[in-house]
Amino acid sequence: MKKTTIQASSDIALIKYWGKKDEVLRLPENGSISIILSGLDTVTTVEFREDLIQDQVFIQGEEIENVSIEAQRVSKHLDRMRDLAKERKITGANWFAKVVSKNTFPRGTGLSSSGSGMAALTYAAARALGLDVSEKELSILSRQASGTACRCVCGGFVEWLDGDTSDTSYSHTIFSKEHWDIRDVVAVVDEGRKKISSTEGHTTAQTSPFFKVRQDRIKQKIELVKQAIAEKNFTELGKIVEAEALEFHSILLTSEVPLILWYPGTVQVMHEVQKMREEGIECYFTINTGFNLHILTLPEFEAEVNQRLFALPLVVKTLTATIGDKPKEISEHLF
Ligand code: DP6
Repeated sequence: MKKTTIQASSDIALIKYWGKKDEVLRLPENGSISIILSGLDTVTTVEFREDLIQDQVFIQGEEIENVSIEAQRVSKHLDRMRDLAKERKITGANWFAKVVSKNTFPRGTGLSSSGSGMAALTYAAARALGLDVSEKELSILSRQASGTACRCVCGGFVEWLDGDTSDTSYSHTIFSKEHWDIRDVVAVVDEGRKKISSTEGHTTAQTSPFFKVRQDRIKQKIELVKQAIAEKNFTELGKIVEAEALEFHSILLTSEVPLILWYPGTVQVMHEVQKMREEGIECYFTINTGFNLHILTLPEFEAEVNQRLFALPLVVKTLTATIGDKPKEISEHLF
């Protein structure tokens, strides 16, 4: 059994995954599109060991209690990987693992740390167990741990195909990162953990009276985003992406129980983005289930967008990201 370390990047959904038609398999109600973000990364080391009596999970330098939801989610996913290794008669397939993980960005704040985290875990566990798996299989395995993670096993511009079965719901790269240089400035307005996880939020999606309206239009919206990316039409892409983020939050606001996730700083950033556009600085915001925002822009505007957002009184800090690649193995282990 080989100790393995993987670096995986998070992503930002341009068209969001919201609502599941199968909660156990994590089959989404609709397809989604994202870009992988180099700069918002997770590094994870995994080692399966005969001497361990249970899985051990450390995140950001802290041991996670085995009874916690987070540790159980990791162990459940390791079981999935171990089951596959057992099917393939790999020696040591029933050993427990030590997992050490760290992020370059705050976790649990709506910046998809479960996406990069579970993608890194899947890749690292697969390599540590010596499993010979394709990118498609890695995507299907990751999806069952976290929907976003199924996109984070790919690079560049990614589409998660909405499938009716586990084998048909996976992600693939639609354009490589070299296709188009888009920048993402993340405005962090709070580093505290969000109160409701995305996993919990998904369960109420269908209760919004607007959910069906969204579903009726989403296939066409996905096509329009793909076309804007293909043509490198930033204005068109930005308009769709910002409107999509607001539509997504209108679902959250009208679900039972309503999810009002924005903080005062969130709205301050939205207003500043609109103001910058009026001044000719092209940038558009998008936001997931949280209060921190992603602002998409072009390389020539990045420095100014970053400066303007950082100067806002309610912005704690900014992070910058470029379009990233799929997870990669690195030689520096975390233990
Ligand atoms: C709003 O992937 O975090 O960020 O599958 O339960 O782990 P689970 O949910 P998760 O949901 C992400 C929702 C979103 C939109 C998106 O990234 O597509």
